[in-house]
Amino acid sequence: MSRIAYVNGLFLPFDQAAVHIEDRGYQFADGVYEVMAISQGRILDEQGHLDRLDRSLAELSIAWPMSRVALVLVIDRLVRRNRVANGIVYLQVTRGVSRRDHAFPAGLRPSLVMTVRAGRPASASLAEVGARVITIPDIRWRRCDIKSVALLPNVLGKQAARLAGAYEAWMVDENGLVTEGTSTNAWIVTAAGRLVTHQAGHAILNGVTRMSILTLAHSLGMEVDERPFGVAEAKAAPEAFLTSTTSYVLPVVSIDGDPVGDGKPGPLTLRLRHAYIQRMARR
Ligand code: PDD
Repeated sequence: MSRIAYVNGLFLPFDQAAVHIEDRGYQFADGVYEVMAISQGRILDEQGHLDRLDRSLAELSIAWPMSRVALVLVIDRLVRRNRVANGIVYLQVTRGVSRRDHAFPAGLRPSLVMTVRAGRPASASLAEVGARVITIPDIRWRRCDIKSVALLPNVLGKQAARLAGAYEAWMVDENGLVTEGTSTNAWIVTAAGRLVTHQAGHAILNGVTRMSILTLAHSLGMEVDERPFGVAEAKAAPEAFLTSTTSYVLPVVSIDGDPVGDGKPGPLTLRLRHAYIQRMARR
């Protein structure tokens, strides 16, 4: 079946879907995005993603392209038209189309583009063996909490990981502390069995999966510290993992080639992963 994209009010065949060359997303990365998982035909954590979209838009003074209720309906219609039961929705809002001028032009209509892709987001086989990560300097801007489409440092970081045979690159700030992965949040488990992940704030994107895992961990009686951790602490930790919409909870088994724990996915990580997948199935 051919794929259908949504572009500014129109449902279009994929090969006819296009935006204007003077869209500010294209020229300035002046836009924001969301990636949501579709599981058994349902969008996972949709309200959490729309809350974050609302926040990203407000931080950049971009108006909603349509009401939130209407957006939920359009997302649903696009998922159905593509007949995707398991996969992802990509949603992008930019400030709109205008003659190239840096300052915000008055009276712009925001552009809205959405695509849907089939596929099982979390790779079960990778989860069994665990993922390798490398560390790289965090060269991003100082508002990583905004889910901006300006992803060049993330793209370069992920490519560095691929070239090193790793799944992800963990970014390290000027104080030697791990902020997050290029498209995932970073976690370790301490010897005392406490989960640790960087606190929300301007230095990281507050993942919707991260927030779900915080709630899930509490409900499982696990203790969590929201604080930064260094590379040495991560390498000495018995377990590490990463979280995102497309990775769920993925064990990390090596950092810069050094094994984490015994080099196998850790028990606490796997417990969280299974609990997360079960929660998804229940929804
Ligand atoms: N990435 N950190 C960064 C920098 C991200 O880009 C993402 C998401 C996350 C995890 O957020 P969430 O749990 O809401 O997916 C953390 C998406 C999946 C992407 O860019 O494809």
